[in-house]
Amino acid sequence: MATPDALRYTRFPLRHGSGAIPAVGFGTLIPDPVATKQAVKAALEVGFRQFDCAERYRNEEAVGDAMQEAFKTGRIRREEVFVSTKLWNSNHRPERVEPAFEASRRRLRLDYVDCYLIHTPFAFQPGEEQDPRDEQGKVIYDSGVTLVDTWRALERLVDGGRCKSIGLSDVTLGKVREIVAAARIKPAVVQVESHPYLPEWELLDFCREHGIVLLAFAALGHGLSPKVLDDPVITTIARRVNKTPAQVALAWAVQRGTAFLTTATTPRYIQENFDISALPEDAMREIRDRVTTRVRFNPVVESGVPGFIPRA
Ligand SMILES: NC(=O)c1ccc[n+]([C@@H]2O[C@H](COP(=O)([O-])OP(=O)(O)OC[C@H]3O[C@@H](n4cnc5c(N)ncnc54)[C@H](OP(=O)(O)O)[C@@H]3O)[C@@H](O)[C@H]2O)c1
Repeated sequence: MATPDALRYTRFPLRHGSGAIPAVGFGTLIPDPVATKQAVKAALEVGFRQFDCAERYRNEEAVGDAMQEAFKTGRIRREEVFVSTKLWNSNHRPERVEPAFEASRRRLRLDYVDCYLIHTPFAFQPGEEQDPRDEQGKVIYDSGVTLVDTWRALERLVDGGRCKSIGLSDVTLGKVREIVAAARIKPAVVQVESHPYLPEWELLDFCREHGIVLLAFAALGHGLSPKVLDDPVITTIARRVNKTPAQVALAWAVQRGTAFLTTATTPRYIQENFDISALPEDAMREIRDRVTTRVRFNPVVESGVPGFIPRA
């Protein structure tokens, strides 16, 4: 058995705001609110202290309920938990940003949000419809607002105090550069798909240079094929260090300097994903040099349209 170590408690300092983000994070992209609440409660119980939410996931209330129940027990304090949520594409117009943020904050039942991210750089037709389409079924984008306009509105949220830090999601390096160049308050976090099949080294180098935390979503490859967890380099290391392939992929994520998000509804996986331990340096090198498959599972970065859309 590998000896437990401090890797799971790693925290990365943020440029501004909430001090530091726990590297080990739990995502709440779970379609069913009952399952969401159960999973969040279980994740808090095993030790997760970083949670990723979004208005788009339509389950912020369930996350808020689970957290309130945990806070009421007195075993976990609000200040110990880092909660992010995200502005959806149909709310990019500056006048829609604060109402959208406040609605998320209320649904989450929190006095403040640790990080607010622009979910994607794509502005959709403003309004209540999250998925606006024309007669041909094509997404209706909004050309009347730029990403910088939306960013300025997020900066004002930080000034207001209920939003501790801000960031971007589903962005290319080019977009991150654009915002870093224009920003008064620089992004604290950039959330993108990243796992051994999509390491995003160039983006990670840029983030490091600018003191931005890269938060890797789908850290296990979304559970899709080709399966990261079946990769022979990963499975061989797992056998060698007496850990599961998931624990190897997650340890790799933290050791190379990214925070990560996984989602599990299976209780055993929730526990497993928190119980990570540091990998030997040779294993880190093997993953970097010998895993050669390259796959982006989530096309959202090209269109702003997520693959999975929970229905109300
Ligand atoms: N910014 C964005 O646009 C964006 C897009 C996608 C996701 N995200 C965020 O990232 C989070 C994570 O994404 P994801 O759900 O794709 O993550 P993921 O952890 O890569 O994949 C989740 C899948 O892996 C399975 N799994 C979890 N732990 C496992 C383990 N130890 N062994 C084997 N299988 C395991 C889960 O199974 P079970 O559910 O059956 O337990 C589930 O099917 C989301 O919840 C969301 O917060 C953000």
